[in-house]
Amino acid sequence: MSIPKAELHLHIEGTLEPELAFALAARNGVALPYADTDELREAYRFSDLQSFLNLYYGLMAVLRTEDDFADLTDAYLARAAAQGVRHAEIFFDPQAHISRGVGIGTVVAGLGRALDRSEAVHGVSTQLIMCFLRDESAESAMETLEAAKPHLGRIVGVGLDSAEVGHPPAKFREVYEAAAALGLRRVAHAGEEGPPAYITEALDVLGAERIDHGLRCLEDPELVARLVRDRVPLTLCPLSNVRLRAVDVLAEHPLPAMLDAGLLCTVNSDDPAYFGGYAEDNFRAVRAALGLSPERLRELARNSFLAAFLEHDEERRAR
Ligand code: HPA
Ligand code: ZN
Repeated sequence: MSIPKAELHLHIEGTLEPELAFALAARNGVALPYADTDELREAYRFSDLQSFLNLYYGLMAVLRTEDDFADLTDAYLARAAAQGVRHAEIFFDPQAHISRGVGIGTVVAGLGRALDRSEAVHGVSTQLIMCFLRDESAESAMETLEAAKPHLGRIVGVGLDSAEVGHPPAKFREVYEAAAALGLRRVAHAGEEGPPAYITEALDVLGAERIDHGLRCLEDPELVARLVRDRVPLTLCPLSNVRLRAVDVLAEHPLPAMLDAGLLCTVNSDDPAYFGGYAEDNFRAVRAALGLSPERLRELARNSFLAAFLEHDEERRAR
């Protein structure tokens, strides 16, 4: 039995399993530079975030139609439900599709079709968070927010992802201000590969309500004290951290120290098709590698609901 939990750090494009990638490639007549799923899986040896992102954005070429996005999302929700996920706040990267000629309307309609039936079919409530690519310009982010305006009824918030180092949060001050004025919630990836100062900046300049990853906060004791005091949730992704070499081995992951410090940590899967596991797989892996007590695991699950953008009645149902 897997513990009921909310998933708060999940890129829908990162749930593209090799089998579905090849099926969509055939459906859409897209040629892939891999002979088969084994050869594709072989390529999943990453040295850092950028080496992953190169493959990840390349494989998105197979996602072209509304049906593709619906099938991708449906497959994720089925897997998530089987792993005890009751609520999922799902990231997507509009710019990674718009730049390939796939409009945000197609993406949101496909995702939305799967999300609309998620509670009935999978028992999973959902929210959508659109992320800006931080290695693209601030102008491009603003254009993306503009393009999203007809779809804001479906989108709960904005996030910031892609290559972190050299792309500090402050570049996106204006688009985050515009998003806040539209009533959108704000999160941001920070402190995955980038320095603790990026976390501080995401809080101060972008008004981020949650920090995605946030691992490197530990290098700044004052920042840790602030995150504890203000109960700022961190959406950690342990298997991702190992695969992208943010930590050497799972047994050295700082999650126990972070919980001991009083940080509001959650455990999530990031890009599960690429990093070796979905939500419960991450819970199991940290339990095994770090010897977390049942009480600590319950705390992590409780934190996931506390940190979610859930209304109170939805929260009750999710439990
Ligand atoms: N970091 C930044 N961007 C991403 C990630 C990540 O872990 N996964 C997908 N896009
Ligand atoms: Zn991420």
